[in-house]
Amino acid sequence: MAIERTLSIIKPDAVEKNSIGGVLALIEGAGLKVKALKMMHLSRPQAQGFYAVHKDRPFFGELVDFMTRSPVVVIALEGENAVARYRDVMGATDPKKAAEGTIRKAFGANIGENACHGSDAKETAAVEIAYFFPGFEIG
Ligand code: CMP
Repeated sequence: MAIERTLSIIKPDAVEKNSIGGVLALIEGAGLKVKALKMMHLSRPQAQGFYAVHKDRPFFGELVDFMTRSPVVVIALEGENAVARYRDVMGATDPKKAAEGTIRKAFGANIGENACHGSDAKETAAVEIAYFFPGFEIG
């Protein structure tokens, strides 16, 4: 099994609810290792750049408003099959469809305010980690 890295963001809704520790407990409980972590309040250009792939979607403005309204925690994770493993830990994008025991089931409210982000593939993970942790060694 390949050792991979993936990017996690604990979104403003979960940070506002004092759930950083709860989210990290699920992440670490799944065997994923925190390699880098920082709290930051995203600027609009930072959020727009991060989500550029969604810029033509009808929810883009709402997504940028949400992601910039208060601080987030960005985390580089490492582990066996980290991209897929972390997606399992997050649960479905829509918290109403997320399985028991997942981050979105426990802490998400709706498809917009869904507590966390995770990279969707190894290649995007490398780009997303470099976006927030420039100079971070991608091993
Ligand atoms: P995320 O994994 O961070 O990547 C893109 C985000 O867009 C996604 O999580 C959702 O929070 C958000 N999103 C997806 N679909 C919708 C939608 N229909 N309305 C609002 N936000 C959405």
